[in-house]
Amino acid sequence: MNFELSKEQKLVVQTVREFAQNEIKPIAAEADQTGVFPIEQYKKMGKMGLIGLPYSTEYNGAGGDYLSYILAVEEISKVDGSLGISYSVQTSLCMGALNMFGTEEQKKKYLSDLCTGKKIGSFGLTEPNAGTDASGQQTVAVKDGDHYVLNGQKCFITNSPLADTFVIFAMTDRSKGTKGITAFIVEKAFPGISIGKIEDKMGIRSSQVGEIILEDCRVPAENMLGKEGKGFGIAMKTLDGGRIGVAGQALGIAEGALEETIDYMKERKQFGKQIYKFQYLAFRMAEMKARIEQARYCVYKAAMDKNDGKPYSESAAIAKMVASDCAMYVTTNCVQMLGGYGFIKDYPLERMMRDAKITQIYEGTNEVQKMVISGAMFR
Ligand code: CAA
Repeated sequence: MNFELSKEQKLVVQTVREFAQNEIKPIAAEADQTGVFPIEQYKKMGKMGLIGLPYSTEYNGAGGDYLSYILAVEEISKVDGSLGISYSVQTSLCMGALNMFGTEEQKKKYLSDLCTGKKIGSFGLTEPNAGTDASGQQTVAVKDGDHYVLNGQKCFITNSPLADTFVIFAMTDRSKGTKGITAFIVEKAFPGISIGKIEDKMGIRSSQVGEIILEDCRVPAENMLGKEGKGFGIAMKTLDGGRIGVAGQALGIAEGALEETIDYMKERKQFGKQIYKFQYLAFRMAEMKARIEQARYCVYKAAMDKNDGKPYSESAAIAKMVASDCAMYVTTNCVQMLGGYGFIKDYPLERMMRDAKITQIYEGTNEVQKMVISGAMFR
């Protein structure tokens, strides 16, 4: 397998790295402390073509490949995991579902403004009683003339407080289980949709995560995404792509933490020498570097599988599990390497460790990834 990046992919890395270092890194700590989403920088990402990176130019996308987009998520997440996930949820989940399952009209109408960042996108699957068991949807959609009327509640929905366009899953026929779930495109402007509690989180603090309340929310029937009863498959297929995004985010967080720690170790002296000259510490750095390279291969492999039109559920689950465990391992160890300085907010390591934790949880816990991987082994 060739892991050499193409000329275009290298250009994406260089462009996003410069943008992330110059315009996101300086504001990341403050955004974490205030919990305020850096909307100006995000809108700029839209204008730069990053949000629509893997989508067709027909819909204002950049016509790039999925690996280029994952490389962009990785570079952003090296300095700010919060922005990394907000970006990934919009591009992989909301826009991923629209791109894969939308009609031509739906794509023109919704994808075009999402690609440029003019509109913000969100993906409403999780409910208070439907987390890991995504099939347990309690939100209902009832046909009423040329509309569906949606009632229910979604929780932990990334970007929801900022979003203009939502992909929402609801039961159109409870008796059919997963085959009774349908996806809808819902606009913020539709009557009956509102945002409930906004979460105060341990990490990824500037990403906006909230509840969606649907009270007699009227959605035109033409806004059904895919066919009636096909929503569960749409959610799962979309999450396969999303998991590669989370894996890219986790990889970026781990790399960002290691880079910060290398800089610190070159400066910091104890017992009369720079601390990287202590073999125990140098070996720990070597172990972390190796874990990051393992994760990188899994993440890029999954992105390439998706690019190449190969099945990617399993490689996405492996990438998400390996990269998120790597992010937690690396950030926890990096905090330890900095000692007391790792624990205070003058350095970004404690933020990176807090941000890493959620990558083991969302878009399917790592236990869910093991269900997907083992399921594929024994099918
Ligand atoms: N692609 C297409 N179809 C799929 C699929 C996939 N990857 N996985 C399953 N399906 C289909 C199956 O083929 C099956 O179809 P048939 O009935 O026609 O055979 C149907 O879906 C049901 O499949 P399962 O019986 O395997 O489903 P399950 O109920 O046992 O669930 C699960 C399996 C893996 C646990 C799944 O529920 C799951 O992934 N749960 C986690 C949910 C999740 O990831 N939530 C994240 C929310 S979004 C988020 O986190 C965003 C954020 O904030 C950052």
